[in-house]
Amino acid sequence: MTKINLKRPLTITVANQKGGAGKSTITRYLAYSLSLHGYHVLVVDEDPQSNTTKSFVVTKEHNEPDSVFVLDKTMMAGIRDHDLTNLVVNILPNLDLIPAHYDLKNLTNYLSKQYGVAEEGDANYHEVKSKKLFFLRKLLEPLKSRGTYDFIFIDTPPTSSDYTDSAVGASDYVLVAFQTQSDSLDGAHNFIFNPDELPEKVNEFGVPTDVLGILPNQMQRSGSIDETVMQDAVNFFGKENMFQTIVPYKRRLQSAPRNGLRNDSYWDKDIFTSFLDDLTNEFIERVNLMESDK
Ligand SMILES: Nc1ncnc2c1ncn2[C@@H]1O[C@H](COP(=O)(O)OP(=O)(O)OP(=O)(O)O)[C@@H](O)[C@H]1O
Ligand SMILES: [Mg+2]
Repeated sequence: MTKINLKRPLTITVANQKGGAGKSTITRYLAYSLSLHGYHVLVVDEDPQSNTTKSFVVTKEHNEPDSVFVLDKTMMAGIRDHDLTNLVVNILPNLDLIPAHYDLKNLTNYLSKQYGVAEEGDANYHEVKSKKLFFLRKLLEPLKSRGTYDFIFIDTPPTSSDYTDSAVGASDYVLVAFQTQSDSLDGAHNFIFNPDELPEKVNEFGVPTDVLGILPNQMQRSGSIDETVMQDAVNFFGKENMFQTIVPYKRRLQSAPRNGLRNDSYWDKDIFTSFLDDLTNEFIERVNLMESDK
């Protein structure tokens, strides 16, 4: 795969409003794979569950067995300081992390204290929502202008909230993931078509973001891909908007929190050959195509 030169650093969120659709798994492995292909990648963990932080710390410990590693500052502290630049932790060559911790659960309260609370219909709704929507985009600016990163991925918790809103507000592209055997297709549909979700952000608040594609994730071992769900997805979104790559069920993906991200054993290499190389290629092709219109 030849590395393309991007005109600008691109921020990307893997989205779905249902829990456990594979957002964190796809974020981690795509970021890791891109870093192995020579792209400089930053992953921002905007989820108080901190699953991505945990699996990246294990990855770092595996690669640097002699060093003692302590996370001394995480996302919530950086947000309070209005500065994320000194939170960056290097995990692997080309792969950096801004870590999260459980205290990030205070984000909503913090943002309400900073910017107020307003409901749709209130005179200050637009102003308050806009500040919350763009707060993370502003905080990422200094990291983008360093010129080092090709991609910044943001990992979010499920449900529509200040977390997902600000991640979308900061993103140039959203990659929408859904499980082929569950109702997470509703979560994908809702995210894209519900007037209060992506359409409001793009049309009323001017978030300059686009959907990069819809990615099916076959998370269950039993049964094959649910063809009805896949057909619904094609009908909802259009074939051209669907990734051709389908993430298959791979038990090894579940061991990232214990083993970290690796490519040294048979089962780790199998992740790359069975879908991750294809996904990475298709991701880059889609980015390249969409960026050529900019
Ligand atoms: N293709 C797959 N094959 C096997 N297991 C998978 C696959 N995709 C995800 N999983 C597993 O499913 C679980 C949920 O995935 P993940 O944590 O990535 O979802 P999520 O959307 O980030 O969840 P949350 O909404 O809680 O943040 C994890 O245990 C993960 O290892
Ligand atoms: Mg997650």
